[in-house]
Amino acid sequence: MKKVVLAPSLLSADFFDLSSALKKIESSPAGIVHIDVMDGQFVPQISYGQPVVKSLRPHTALPFDVHLMVEKPESMVDSFAQAGADMITFHLESTVHADRLAHHIKDLGKKAGVSIVPSTPVSLLSELLGVVDLVLVMTVNPGFGGQKLIPSCLEKVRELSRIRSGRGLDFLISVDGGVNNGTVSSVVDSGADIVVSGSAFFSGDFEWKY
Ligand code: DX5
Ligand code: ZN
Repeated sequence: MKKVVLAPSLLSADFFDLSSALKKIESSPAGIVHIDVMDGQFVPQISYGQPVVKSLRPHTALPFDVHLMVEKPESMVDSFAQAGADMITFHLESTVHADRLAHHIKDLGKKAGVSIVPSTPVSLLSELLGVVDLVLVMTVNPGFGGQKLIPSCLEKVRELSRIRSGRGLDFLISVDGGVNNGTVSSVVDSGADIVVSGSAFFSGDFEWKY
């Protein structure tokens, strides 16, 4: 069985004590730290930005996947790369020049990810799949932790997996939103390589057996 990587989302951590949150991630089977950046424009809330990423960077060797839920992500990728991001994932819906941006992220020496919200079909990613390192399929509408997974979004994971083998590509597929003890097996079965979990992971009773 292939190895699936757990990526806890810091969005559901207690921001008063990020140090404990990082320790909890470090002592779990996690392979990636998922960092949700929200600008109050692309999504209603504002979370945290480059200075927080920079402060966390020296305290773990785990890679940081910065998930940019922001308008104009092109204005921020350099500073997040400098702050310590290893993977930078932007939304297809937030920029016109997605191909240019994905190449730019790779030119910075980082892994480039593209994400789609539940209403965006996989077909719109067609031209990008040969460029990006990662596709992040949102299984909730972005903006908040603790929402319910939309099961129909998992069909997109299966579709991406089929396209990947058909075209001989090697991007990773990540699933983000509503993953908990009740949904995790359906997410893994759909073909996810990386599974993001926020509220379930930090609630304490999340079981990971992959
Ligand atoms: C949603 C974020 C997710 C979210 C996941 O806008 O991109 O990463 O925090 O949280 P849960 O696992 O609680 O849905
Ligand atoms: Zn996210």
